Amino acid sequence: MTVQTLAETNTTVPEQPIFELIEVEQVFEVPKPGRPIFSRETVGLRALDGVRLNIRKGTSLAVVGESGSGKSTLLRVLLGLDRPSGGRALYNSKPILEGRATGIDFARDVAMVYQDARGSLDPRMTIGALIAEPLRHFNIVSREDEASRVAQLLDRVGLPADAAERYPSGLSGGQVRRVAIARALASEPTVLVADEAVSGLDVSTQAQLLILLQSLQRDMGLTLIFITHDLGVASFLCEEIAIMYLGRIVETGPTDAVLNAPAHPYSAALRAAAPQFFEPLSEPLSGEIPSPLNLPEGCRFSTRCASAQNDCRLKDPQLGKLSLQRAVACLHPLALK
Ligand SMILES: Nc1ncnc2c1ncn2[C@@H]1O[C@H](COP(=O)(O)OP(=O)(O)O)[C@@H](O)[C@H]1O
Ligand code: SF4
Ligand SMILES: [Mg+2]
Repeated sequence: MTVQTLAETNTTVPEQPIFELIEVEQVFEVPKPGRPIFSRETVGLRALDGVRLNIRKGTSLAVVGESGSGKSTLLRVLLGLDRPSGGRALYNSKPILEGRATGIDFARDVAMVYQDARGSLDPRMTIGALIAEPLRHFNIVSREDEASRVAQLLDRVGLPADAAERYPSGLSGGQVRRVAIARALASEPTVLVADEAVSGLDVSTQAQLLILLQSLQRDMGLTLIFITHDLGVASFLCEEIAIMYLGRIVETGPTDAVLNAPAHPYSAALRAAAPQFFEPLSEPLSGEIPSPLNLPEGCRFSTRCASAQNDCRLKDPQLGKLSLQRAVACLHPLALK
């Protein structure tokens, strides 16, 4: 029998993830469909259901899924904006809400680029003042050094120094997103979270912003969590992917491996529906996506799955390991190539 030395044992200990979601659930009480107008009857809408996810420090992760799959709800849990109704959501091994409540470190560490970049910027403030705001809030530089740090941040996101004097209304859609990224970087975060940060822009502006985000992530060692409904964006930008369907992560792994040989029939359907990169997933599948108020029995994908078998209506598959780096929530995963 061979005996492992401590050093050998240590090499097998996986690095602690920066974010860890364990059976996270988010149920919203909503008015019961068809209730009489004066009734207060509600039902639980499962926006997140049994979400398991580990995010490695320094990685780039795309969270992909159709509209309504729970991406924004997941993001609010990761940002500590909402308390999940079940399960545990940890940041550096501590509950996210605890981290958020006990000081400004979490808010400084985890920065957000909002989906509606223009709406997140006060139109009465100059770009310089907008970028200086987080610098002051987090006490990043002295007042004397503020203007030069604003200029550095503008340069880092590819905007000219004189943009500091302008107002958001004078900038294009792509420039406004760059300002939102500069504001997010001002607090010197370790994690950058972006919700559909390039959607709605023309393809060349999208490509420029993706190249910028990629270089920021690599140069600054950021952990990037990127919410998108576009597989092309996910594939270009992110090392890892998590695919969501009706409130659950149904497949995770390295982006290339998952997109080249999907194990979950839903991932395969998404891949087949997006032969062109940078094409949004408008109608990836035939059939209606079920309502989260009325989840199918057994596997939630069984009503649309081409590989469904009898047991799929009876058992609800949880996300489980497929290989060292990949996990899938399916009773009959597709064979890996
Ligand atoms: N605050 C809320 N109250 C009630 N239902 C909500 C709320 N937020 C989201 N939902 C519902 O949860 C589901 C997931 O929504 P969301 O996370 O916004 O999905 P995505 O970002 O993937 O489009 C949807 O059915 C949505 O209607
Ligand atoms: S469990 Fe069955 S229905 Fe669900 S995705 Fe797998 S094969 Fe399809
Ligand atoms: Mg959303």
